[in-house]
Amino acid sequence: MATSSISEIVLALLFPWKFMSISLSYLPGTIISALRAGQFRTLLSWPRLQAAWFSRFWSWAGPQVRTGAEQIVRPLLEGRVSRGAIVPPTSSPSVGAHLGVAGTVLEIGPGSGMWVSIFSDRYQQSKTSTPDTKGVRGKVTRVYGVEPNEGVHHLLREQIAAADLQDVYEVVPVGIEDLASSGHVAPESVDCIVSVLCLCSIPEPERNIAMLYGYLKPGGRWYVYEHVKHDRSTSTMGFYQAFVNLIWPHFIGGCELRRDTGKWLREAGTWSEIDLEHPEGEPWFATIPHVVGVLTK
Ligand SMILES: C[S@@+](CC[C@H](N)C(=O)[O-])C[C@H]1O[C@@H](n2cnc3c(N)ncnc32)[C@H](O)[C@@H]1O
Repeated sequence: MATSSISEIVLALLFPWKFMSISLSYLPGTIISALRAGQFRTLLSWPRLQAAWFSRFWSWAGPQVRTGAEQIVRPLLEGRVSRGAIVPPTSSPSVGAHLGVAGTVLEIGPGSGMWVSIFSDRYQQSKTSTPDTKGVRGKVTRVYGVEPNEGVHHLLREQIAAADLQDVYEVVPVGIEDLASSGHVAPESVDCIVSVLCLCSIPEPERNIAMLYGYLKPGGRWYVYEHVKHDRSTSTMGFYQAFVNLIWPHFIGGCELRRDTGKWLREAGTWSEIDLEHPEGEPWFATIPHVVGVLTK
């Protein structure tokens, strides 16, 4: 094995520890800031403190993660990812790509709004382009961003304003488990669901993923880029992932590394098409493997 490969593997194995160390460095500042602001309810509740800590950390981590993930997430939302690979922009949908995000969109856990500008690009494009035969290509008309962490709302709103989407993008300040009772979005009213690196953090994921399926219209599309449990739990990497996951959720805002999100998405309901794979070229030694793709109802 080449030296460069060994160093790549070592760096990949160390990555979660580096990420958690950086997250930890945001905890003292979070506590001091809560003390200064007299936010004793935050200091006395672990879930509140963890949410405040995560929002400070994610103001740094969000842009870093975006830099790494954009090369797959942007084509995904443009309908140019198929079987885990990026399809060149010139290819027609009939050779394997999908329609891009369009119509009424439910964005799950948008956090600090790292992907809002992509909706804006498409929204601006829609003002000049003609809809295709399915009538919705390229046109985002409404976005509901379901984000319970109030600590990131100001960052999310900044992104919405920067993208000039104030009339299009509504922040729904609840967890998806409370979406039905919030009355913001009707069942079977959504053209597209977007979930990017967030199903790892929601409660009761299997049940809530099935519940979210009910928001899609027939023919609606769910765009997925999520990290998942290692395919082989009894492999060395499976054990290593399980070991890291003993502490990871405590440092990274409740994020779980060992969720079978791909399986739960496939089993959420009846799909007319499932195009969900590991990203092409993802190495076997990834502690945080992903699935990417589009499921069509
Ligand atoms: C790792 S961050 C990803 C944020 C964003 N999607 C991105 O790619 O930058 C996970 C997000 O899921 C959100 N989240 C946690 N619990 C949630 C819930 N019950 N419903 C919806 N979102 C939730 C968190 O607040 C956080 O913003």
